[in-house]
Amino acid sequence: MANWIKIIEANEIPLMGSRKVIIGEEEIALFKTKSGYIFAINNICPHKQGKLSEGLVHESVVTCPLHNWDIDLASGEALGNDSGCTNVYETKIEGDFLYLSL
Ligand code: FES
Repeated sequence: MANWIKIIEANEIPLMGSRKVIIGEEEIALFKTKSGYIFAINNICPHKQGKLSEGLVHESVVTCPLHNWDIDLASGEALGNDSGCTNVYETKIEGDFLYLSL
């Protein structure tokens, strides 16, 4: 059974932007795409631990700020010739608030 945790108001995440939240030991990057969909993934790049919340969002992908790996926001998988994966978290909006399943 999902353990939903109330995080922040959804409108605190800018379109095509990100926010970082820390829950327990977990650093989580929240991204809002151009269409307004919100993704949540572990903030640590699977390459060399770049902070993904500081990367650029395009479509449903974030480009890591350190070495430009593209990470799929839905799966957490590195795209193209790169390989590696970071955790993803299910999201939902209720009222004005974003919830994560942890
Ligand atoms: S640390 Fe992210 S691409 Fe190298």
